[in-house]
Order: sequence, then structure tokens, then C-alpha cells
Amino acid sequence: MPLSCIDLSPRMGSEVKITKSELMSGRRASEIRALLDQRGILLFRGLAPDDSELRAIARTLGDLRIGAAKRTADGKTLTEGEEGILKVSLDETVNPEYARFLIGNHLWHMDGTYEEIPPLATLFTPFRLSKTGGDTMFANTYAAFDDLPDGEKAELEKLRVVHTMQAALFPAKRDCTPEEFAVWYSYPQRLHPLVWHHRSGRKSLVLSTSGAYVEGMHPAESHDLLQRLMAHATQEKYTYRHKWRMGDLVIWDNTGAMHRVMPFDRESGREFHRATLNGEESVTATSDRLVPASIRVSA
Ligand SMILES: [Fe+2]
Repeated sequence: MPLSCIDLSPRMGSEVKITKSELMSGRRASEIRALLDQRGILLFRGLAPDDSELRAIARTLGDLRIGAAKRTADGKTLTEGEEGILKVSLDETVNPEYARFLIGNHLWHMDGTYEEIPPLATLFTPFRLSKTGGDTMFANTYAAFDDLPDGEKAELEKLRVVHTMQAALFPAKRDCTPEEFAVWYSYPQRLHPLVWHHRSGRKSLVLSTSGAYVEGMHPAESHDLLQRLMAHATQEKYTYRHKWRMGDLVIWDNTGAMHRVMPFDRESGREFHRATLNGEESVTATSDRLVPASIRVSA
């Protein structure tokens, strides 16, 4: 019997009706992976997985990320939380290492654009919600590319973009201290093609606020192009806005979608638990080139 699904928006997102035990069994994993690839995000209502269940579901779908994901300027290694579960909260008592980086979540982004192989997908479930705000928005970067004129697609496929942590975070915190900026600047930069040729044969835009500039392009033209593409890709027709309920589990495809959280009460204690699936393919073979420090520029 096929999976029971309801579209959440025309171009993105499906709600999947499945019991927690069936999801955890892995019996439908290949169908769920295929649906995730096609629809960008999957919603499961009323599952309320605890941490061990979240890990189990993640492991049916891919390679659960455990261990070092980021390294700070002072040499600390930030791990993906306890055994693969990261607590996403602005409260520094909940997650002292990550809270300072989460400000960037308010802006459209892909996760892990600093990595050679960005994460495949994220599993996200709420443990406490803010009474106001805090919806998560998703944008389908496959659809946004598909709809461009052929001539423009061909031009974009020639371009590469430098992704930096300071480009991702400075717009979200323009009153940062020099020390904060220095920490952001300490992260490796990454050069990715603007268009991802997936091994499936599909193509998507590699867009994120971390995209600082287009390699070799005049800064003014680069700025205008990235701004224009971001505006194009986040039009309502390519997006889905999720209003969270306790019990929800959302899985999104990080390789073909951007996401952002809408403003919420910082004192609300909003807390989500996240499991990340490691990526399975480079953006392209050229994306494993780090940008030499000698040609780094600030965002
Ligand atoms: Fe994110």
C-alpha cells in the first residue's frame, strides 16, 4: 500500500500519515527518502518522538551525525549534542555552545554550507514552543531553479559562490562585538557552485545567507545577483510555512531547500531537538576546495 500523504503546498511539503512504530521499523524508509527528495519537507503529526526514538528514526533514513561538527577559534570542538541529538534553544543554560550561533536561523539558509558535503537532512521536533511566533519556513530550491529561463540557468551554472560564517551571522547581529566577529571569521570558508547537479540528475540553487560573494564577479554585481536570486527563490509559490504543534516531527531535505525560523519570544524557552543526517554527495567535485586565507574577504 502506498504511503498516505497530503500536500502541504503545491510545490513543497507533504504530511505523511504513519504510526511511530511503523516509521521506526524502517520498513517504509526507502519510500520516505524518495518522498523527501521530491517534496523537500515531510511532516508527521502526533508522533512526539523522544531522543532515542528520534535517533532510531534517523538511522532508518541515513547516517546519523554524531560528533564534531564545528570548531571554535579557541579550539573547542562543538559536537552534535548527546549521541546525535542537538538541543536547539536560544537559552544558553540549555545549550551554551550553540546558542550564540542560532541567531542566524532567522535568515534564509542551508545548514553546513561550510562543509565539503553538506548535511543531507534534518529531523526536528519541538519540546517547548513559544506562545507567539516561531513558525519555520522552507523554500524549495529545486523548483526555484527549474522555473528560471534556460539562458539564465546556463549562465548561473558557470558561477561559484564563497560561503562564510560571517556572511551568515553578521546580518542577524550587526551590533556584534569584535570578538564575536573574530570567532565567525575563524571558520573555514567554502567555495560551492551556485547550481547543484545532484546525482539524481536534478538541479537546485545553492543559496543561503552564508553566500558572501560570487567568485570573480564585481562586488556590486555579485551582491545584486545573490539578492535577486534569494528574492526569487523565496517567493510564496516556492515556500511552505509550518506552524508547529507539540508532537510534530518534521524532516527536511537540506540539499534542495532553505529554511528559517520566524521571530518569537526569546524568553519563551522555545526548544527543539534535532538529529542530522550526514550528507551523501558533494555539491560538485570542485566544492572540496577551501578558499585560501590569502583571498578571504569579509562579508
Ligand atoms: Fe538551520
